[in-house]
Amino acid sequence: METSEIRRRFLQYFEDRGHTVVPSAPLPSPDPNLLFNVAGMAQFVPYFVGQQTPPYPRATSVQKCVRTLDIDEVGKTTRHGTFFQMNGNFSFGDYFKEKAIEYAWELVTKPQNEGGYGFDESVLYASVYYEDDEAIDLWKRVAGLPDDRIVRLGMKDNFWSMGIPGPCGPCSEILIDRGPEFGADRDWEAGDRYLEFWNLVFMQNIRGEGGGKEGYPILGELPKKNIDTGLGLERVAYLLQGVDNMYEIDEIYPVIEKASELTGRKYGSEHDDDVRFRVVADHVRSALMLIGDGVTPGNEQGGYVLRRLLRRAIRSMRLLGYEDPSLVELLPVSLEQMKKSYPELVTDFGRISQVAYAEEEAFRRTLTAGTTIFDVAVRDTKASGAHQLEGAKAFQLHDTYGFPIDLTVEMAAEQGLNVDTEGFKSLMKEQRERAKADARAKKAGHADTSGYRELREKGVTEFTGYQELATDSQVRGLLRDGAVAPFAEQGETVEVVLEKTPFYAESGGQIADEGLIVGDGLKLNVLDVQRPVKGLIVHRVEILEGVLRPGTDVHAEVDHDWRISACQAHSGTHVVHAALRQVLGPNALQSGSYNKPGYLRLDFAWSSALDPATRSEIEEVANLAVRKDLPVSAQYMTLPEARDWGALALFGETYDEQVRVVEIGGPWSRELCGGTHVKHSSQVGALTVTGESSVGAGVRRIEAFVGMEALHYLGKERALVRLLSENLKTRPEELPAKVADLAERLRAAEKELERVRAAQVLQAAAELANSPKDVFGVQYVGHRAPDGVNGGDLRKLALDVRGRMGNDKPVVVAMLSVNDGKPGVVVALNDTAREWRLKAGDLVRIAAEKLGGRGGGKDDVAQGGGTDPAGADDALSAVEHAIGHQVTG
Ligand code: ALA
Repeated sequence: METSEIRRRFLQYFEDRGHTVVPSAPLPSPDPNLLFNVAGMAQFVPYFVGQQTPPYPRATSVQKCVRTLDIDEVGKTTRHGTFFQMNGNFSFGDYFKEKAIEYAWELVTKPQNEGGYGFDESVLYASVYYEDDEAIDLWKRVAGLPDDRIVRLGMKDNFWSMGIPGPCGPCSEILIDRGPEFGADRDWEAGDRYLEFWNLVFMQNIRGEGGGKEGYPILGELPKKNIDTGLGLERVAYLLQGVDNMYEIDEIYPVIEKASELTGRKYGSEHDDDVRFRVVADHVRSALMLIGDGVTPGNEQGGYVLRRLLRRAIRSMRLLGYEDPSLVELLPVSLEQMKKSYPELVTDFGRISQVAYAEEEAFRRTLTAGTTIFDVAVRDTKASGAHQLEGAKAFQLHDTYGFPIDLTVEMAAEQGLNVDTEGFKSLMKEQRERAKADARAKKAGHADTSGYRELREKGVTEFTGYQELATDSQVRGLLRDGAVAPFAEQGETVEVVLEKTPFYAESGGQIADEGLIVGDGLKLNVLDVQRPVKGLIVHRVEILEGVLRPGTDVHAEVDHDWRISACQAHSGTHVVHAALRQVLGPNALQSGSYNKPGYLRLDFAWSSALDPATRSEIEEVANLAVRKDLPVSAQYMTLPEARDWGALALFGETYDEQVRVVEIGGPWSRELCGGTHVKHSSQVGALTVTGESSVGAGVRRIEAFVGMEALHYLGKERALVRLLSENLKTRPEELPAKVADLAERLRAAEKELERVRAAQVLQAAAELANSPKDVFGVQYVGHRAPDGVNGGDLRKLALDVRGRMGNDKPVVVAMLSVNDGKPGVVVALNDTAREWRLKAGDLVRIAAEKLGGRGGGKDDVAQGGGTDPAGADDALSAVEHAIGHQVTG
């Protein structure tokens, strides 16, 4: 049975039994403690813990999950994978243990021709939490299992949580006995023979912080008893497809086949190669799904995981002997399989593949640039007899060449070296701390949301700001430092919640409204507006006058000019997005945006810079849309309706059942959006694109000013041109030619200056040749030339001095200069000096060491340099000492 069919049957089975089919949440986890969703229940946590009322009593879903704890283990055995899918059925205070067991058992054992999975009952087992007698009874009664096929296991196996504080509970799993060739009788621990594939969690507790699978405290009961189940889709697939492991199922194996075809190596013939094949197949699929959900490669968090996955896949292909770009071959194969369950990947593939291929290209460049440095580092390390690559080297590779540490570790291991990762980490930490000090957290958000939830329980805040800018309202409550407070006084900055408010809370890229909230003797200046929990709008205010108390009648009024400009900027963002897509094509999809009065920026999927003509065209299309005075409207509909309509949604967002679609000029621009907008496109006013840049692999950013700001921006440019034309005494249209002419003359003058300086330096030669120092018979000229003499001139000078000094006596000339902050050194010696067994290469190395660098060369002339100009004098006297040493020793 194909994986997509197993998935379909699951959803059908539970839909027929009153469950609402809920789409998978995007892979990035809403929980800040987790990068990606690791279980089907993730999106339902607010329902389990009673934070929100579930809109349905029972639900079913197939959740996309990524587990990345053990990326390094992937492929080494056949048990670890990163991306997987979890089929689940959920009950929120509706049915409990009995029904959960009954449903699971029926679907698992029902014959395939009746819509079930048709597992042979005689090889199925159930495990239960050791204290759960009720579950044991149910397995006997409902499923008819005999005693010897029910096992009691401890907390590690049969108590489930997400691994972080939150809902949890005892669980019960269905296991299949795969036969004696997979392990010993009744050996539940090993896990290969008795493979669990469906976990039924009786979600009834809440857990706290704590280690491992057993070491956390149970803090209490959930408000209701719930069911959360997880059927491992890939596991069931390999069981039903009669293959050995997840890598061999229909959704994954074709990538292995393709990789084998490209590399000419065979899967199944050699362990190391097999590991690489599995890494390739797993990671390519995970990357496809992650990019599909809006993750882009980066150096932090989820972006970093994606980058690692892509890079490991690419490197594994290289280790298998395939040097050409490989994703372009493999990604489409993965798509072919995954599209059966995820048709949206097909429409999105232009963007997905662009991101992936751009990352591969960047990585190939990184590898080329960094590998030489890496090889040198390895050689030096081995030469010094060490077995560990220095942390500083790893840091340099990371910082300068973009080598992720695990790549360095992997490549070092291939060379039989390990890496001082502690040293690396502490250097990274230093760097991060520097960065952090610069970027102070913008918002004083509170991690603990209990205060917000307390106010939210009194009801949702009604948002009136789509219809009006001023609303009479009442204070519902206030918070000081995140805790509900009874009152607050003049001068304090606190958070306030109103019954209803016209203030727009920052979201969807639009920043919060500004304005005032006034009441009898009360005046509040609104500094920020956020929606920290769903349904609650919170104003951060400074109390200008009076005492703020719950129940006070107030008049809340958004600053009119502010809002007009905010609407211009947000509508402007949609206009620019539509213009981008009109000019560049439908792949130029927005991946993020930010707008505030007068300014907007938009990040979009695109891998190359826009040339000036394209930029102008986008600007032109946008301004034409403004001039056409297109109507702007907003309407509510269901998510599927919106999709049918072609409305653009942001990847990775979770949307409500009812969504708001904002249109500009009908189908020209349709986006899911909760923001505030102008009524007609002409109200956006002028729109001028000010910049376009890269913000990561496959993502570009376009920036623009709108309305009055656009005018001010153009005015400033005009003033600048006027100033330049006054200073340069030329007409504006002649400025470019004038500047080019000036630059050319400047270049010529600089060249001339350089020539004069070099001549001066060479003039010094005669004088230097006349005043050598006698070092035990060797005529030594050690000279620090003026700063700014380049290596070539320095060498010329040294050779010139040497030439003037003849061959009668041994001569050593050492010349040093600091050029662009970097010291360079040249040592030249004559034939007699060489007969005295002096070597220029040795001397220059000694000098360079004092300069914090290295050098070398032939016996008669050698050159080197370093990074530390302070060592210049030492360098020259070190050469002198070395001469003495050689001659006398
Ligand atoms: N949430 C449970 C699991 O992931 C079903 O195993």
